[in-house]
Order: sequence, then C-alpha cells, then structure tokens
Amino acid sequence: MSGHEFVAAFDDATGIDTHDDQTSIGDQTIAEMREIMARYPEPRSALLPMLHLVQSVDGRISDAGVKICADLLGISTAQVNGVATFYTMYKRRPAGKHHIGVCTTTVCAVMGGDVLLDQMKAKLGIDEGETTADGVFSLERLECNAACDFAPVMMVNWEFMDSMTPEKADALIDNLQTGREVRSTRGAHITSWAEAERVLAGFPDGLADEGPTAGPASLAGLQIAREKGWTSPVSPASAAIDGGEPDER
Ligand code: FES
Repeated sequence: MSGHEFVAAFDDATGIDTHDDQTSIGDQTIAEMREIMARYPEPRSALLPMLHLVQSVDGRISDAGVKICADLLGISTAQVNGVATFYTMYKRRPAGKHHIGVCTTTVCAVMGGDVLLDQMKAKLGIDEGETTADGVFSLERLECNAACDFAPVMMVNWEFMDSMTPEKADALIDNLQTGREVRSTRGAHITSWAEAERVLAGFPDGLADEGPTAGPASLAGLQIAREKGWTSPVSPASAAIDGGEPDER
C-alpha cells in the first residue's frame, strides 16, 4: 500500500455486482418498463422509476436489470450504472423483506437516533448496509427525512415511524418478525420493501390515502395561527393573481 491510496468514505462503494446474474425480470416486467417509458416525452426520463421496478422484482439493482434498462432506453450500461450508484435508495446488494432506516441527522441524533441505530444493529445482528441471513431485515443509516418534528424517526419500507423510543423500536421489529400488522404513524400499513418499490415505480397499491398524512407536531403552527387570527402577508405577485386575498391554508 502506497500510503496515498484512495479510501472511500462509504463501506459499500463498489458498483453493481456483475457476478450475480440472478434475475426474475421476465416479459411482464419488461412490458411494465415500456409502460413507464410511455409516460414520459423523453423515454430516458423513465430510468428512475424503471430502476425502482427492477428493485421490486430482483430485490436489488441487478446486473440484468441494468442491461435491460439500457437496452430499452438506448443508453449505455455505464449511464444506467451511473444513476443507480448515485442515489442511495438504489441498493447494490439484496435488501430485506423489510428495510429499516434510522435517521441520525442532527435533530434525530440529539433525540436518540444513534442509540436507536445501535439498538437495531444489536437486535438484528447486522451492521448498517447489511441484510439478515434469513432475508427478513436490512438496515440503513438515513439522512434527514424532513420529519424532524417527530424526531427520532425511523422508517420501514420508506414509511414513517415517528417519535421512536427504544421500547417502540424493539416492539416494531418483533411485530414485523412475527407477521403482526404494523401501521406507519403517518401512512399506510406496512407491506414489504418490494411492494413499496413497485409503488415508487409508478404502480399504486391503493394504500396512499390509508392512515394520517400529517401529525399534530406539523400542524401546531397552523393551529396557533388560526387561534390568533394570523394570516400570511400578501406578496404583490400573489395579489395580482388572486386579488389580494390572504392565504388561508
Ligand atoms: S433530523 Fe431526522 S428527520 Fe430531520
């Protein structure tokens, strides 16, 4: 080692695993990829949802999935790889049936996010970025979920688990493990990471309106403003559009 070797900041800084040729992508998935492409004026704009569809079928961004996306879109596999390895929501190794995220950015960290992450590592017996041997859970450290008013926040399959405590986190994993119904605090009941990925690909599961979408902490300011009769100032631009009516939202 020269002493000047590049050391990646992330443990999993490798690319898509080209040695793993397992795939479940078949004619139906390819037809759905074409359906996604047809939604955009420029077909290559469909790459992001197509990659979510790859994950929903293969449990990761598979090498086969990369090649199929490239073929359908008429772009190179290097271009697809560049996108798939840029965004952290795309997984280069198989994720679990349930993908657990723990936010450890500032507010969540102050409120105990790091403690929750350590607890999850110990309970699941895996490190962040890993999947349990039985394939049920994978674990990830998350950046801010824009849900700081509910810190510390965890996510299961991208659904919010607000205001977590060590006890609630323990019960959450136990309930998922035993197949009991788990409900997001602001969202639908938990299905699976693969099903959530299919929704992100643009195929709704009909659960979007299930459960509350906003919680009391987010609505506190609005509540106070209503009680005190506060309204937002009217900008010249909005006055020109709506006749100067204050925004009541
Ligand atoms: S810091 Fe965790 S949601 Fe913002």
